[in-house]
Formats: sequence, structure tokens, C-alpha cells
Amino acid sequence: MKRGEFLISTGKGVLLMCSGSCMLASCSSGDDGGGTQPPGNGGPTTVSVSLSGLSEVGAQTTKSGVLFFRIGEGQTTSDFVATEAVCPHQGGQLVWEQENGYIECQLHFSRYESDGDTIRGPQNAAGTTRDLKVYAISISNGNLIATVS
Ligand code: FES
Repeated sequence: MKRGEFLISTGKGVLLMCSGSCMLASCSSGDDGGGTQPPGNGGPTTVSVSLSGLSEVGAQTTKSGVLFFRIGEGQTTSDFVATEAVCPHQGGQLVWEQENGYIECQLHFSRYESDGDTIRGPQNAAGTTRDLKVYAISISNGNLIATVS
């Protein structure tokens, strides 16, 4: 009797095939792979920009949904603000207007204080807005870092 005939006649061929597939199933079900959870997992994340791009009072930049702008001449966190960069009304771009001292939406012109409070709602558009989210900031190694939660 040949080896293949022996394995088939004793049922071990089926056992070997099952053993191989079971091992594969075991590996995939027990491996979380590190990539199956969504990034951030609902916790706070940070967004960082270089202070060199915010050297003058009124300078601003937007990164990853955060609007950063400078309101003072120093190098402390009180000289900067970080808010959400997209208007809560209908997604217009927000811009810091240094000369006027407010953030203004470029779509329907809602206005907000630098602390996020709403000054006025949408102009010539239906609906309302809400106060802006203002993010905690820190400074490290020449970078301004916003903690987005
Ligand atoms: S999108 Fe900003 S006021 Fe409408």
C-alpha cells in the first residue's frame, strides 16, 4: 500500500487538511493586528504646527481641522489660540480677523470671539450655529500643539 492510499484509508488525510485550516483560522482570529481599531480610538489627539509660521500678531494657519492664530507678541500659550477650523453651521472656512478681533466664517459670515463664543449667526442663510470648540494648547520645541478631544 502506498503512503497516500494508507492516509486516505485511515482518515488521516482529512485530519491533516483540517489541522492546517484550523491553524490558519486560529492565527487570524487571535491576531488583532494592531490595525483593526480606528485611529485615535475616540481619545484625544494632538495637532502640531511650527511657531515659525506664526511669528507676527494676527498670523494664522490651519492644519488637520484646527485653526491656529497668534493674538499676542510673546511666546507663551496665552499668545496663541487654537479653535476648530470649520464653521459649525455649514462647514465654511473660519478665518481670524486680527484687525477686528474676531473669527469670521467665509461662507455665511458668522462671527466668533477668540474664546469661541458666538458673536452673530449666519447672514443670509437659514439655520443657526453654535460656539466654537477651543482647544487646549502647549508649546514644545518650537511647536504649538493643540489637544483635540
Ligand atoms: S457655514 Fe459658517 S455661517 Fe454658514
